[in-house]
Amino acid sequence: MPDEKRPVIIYGGSFDPPHRGHTALAAAALRQLNPAVLYFVPGFHTPFKDLRPAAFSGRAAMLKAALAEAGLAGRKEIKISSFEADQKRVVYTYETVAHFRRLHPGAPVYFLMGSDCLAGFKGWRRPGFILKNTRLLAGLRPGCAMHRRSGVPFTALAGRFPRADSTRIRAELFLGGRPAQLHRAVLDLIAARSLYLARERALLRKLLSPARFAHSLHTAELALRLAGAAGVPQQKAALAALLHDCARDLPAAELRRCCLKRAPRTALPELTLKEAPVLAHAWAGAALAREKFGVKDAEILEAIEQHATGAPGMGPLARLIYVSDLANQGRAFREAKLVRALAFKDFEAAFRAANYIKLVYAFSGGGWVHPLSVSLWNSLQKKR
Ligand SMILES: [Fe+2]
Ligand SMILES: [Fe+2]
Repeated sequence: MPDEKRPVIIYGGSFDPPHRGHTALAAAALRQLNPAVLYFVPGFHTPFKDLRPAAFSGRAAMLKAALAEAGLAGRKEIKISSFEADQKRVVYTYETVAHFRRLHPGAPVYFLMGSDCLAGFKGWRRPGFILKNTRLLAGLRPGCAMHRRSGVPFTALAGRFPRADSTRIRAELFLGGRPAQLHRAVLDLIAARSLYLARERALLRKLLSPARFAHSLHTAELALRLAGAAGVPQQKAALAALLHDCARDLPAAELRRCCLKRAPRTALPELTLKEAPVLAHAWAGAALAREKFGVKDAEILEAIEQHATGAPGMGPLARLIYVSDLANQGRAFREAKLVRALAFKDFEAAFRAANYIKLVYAFSGGGWVHPLSVSLWNSLQKKR
């Protein structure tokens, strides 16, 4: 068949990171359609959605590694296109389809996707245009029946495809795991380039005792599970939770220096150092996160600063870290389990409960109670 009549396949996605599901779909599409070309088109990652998105170059390198391990290296039909990433904005699928349609005017064009995407297809921008200019090509994932209800016409790829959820894969990576859905070559590349917060975890491990480091991972694990309910991007949740106690094991003099550096214009750090020095690591942690980890995101720094005492007017990320610090599965006390269970049903109720539990604990100790914790309590009563 002459090349201009052979199909062209567009495979769009974030490929953050590319996994076995992606390579299995591509392999099946190559087998079934014998295309002239199959374009992987990694999308542009908006910095607003994610804190430090994996750059196109990193995702392209991971894709090449995944393809090589899947036995697809050297297939001249496969190309990795920077069309979407080059535009530095979110590019809608219909625009990508229009672009490749112009490049291959006579060829049948297919748009490859997982069957789970079919269910949401009608909500995409200009679905009519996409269907007029391409044929949808979908691999059916095990147990996924959504495609039958979607009513969207598509060509099914023969075979069964591994279930892989990129959100879960990233969460596992942020915690230092090695997700089974990733090719070993991709995992090696992630380690070599310190992607998915590996650099931050390595630095943190040097600053904290093993028990404190484990607590930070537990906090991050819960923060990642609750991020959606709290309305917080995944990577931001992970980084703030990992770093929330980064100053906890600092020597006293360094703790004092960092604490005063964070908020030199208010009396609160000075007061905290005098009355409850154990809480000063929250201010010091915010300063250290900026100084040593290069964190500039104001919400992350605020969440670290407020995690121990709470404060009136806490934002969604600060609330998430406050709850996750108290209620993570590494905590042995009974209330932690109760707040954790509550957080999955009603996050705001769990936040109020965390404030209550911390205050009861502080008052029962009979000593000085931080004014910010009391102010948070009072502010929550006014809102109700
Ligand atoms: Fe802490
Ligand atoms: Fe903590």
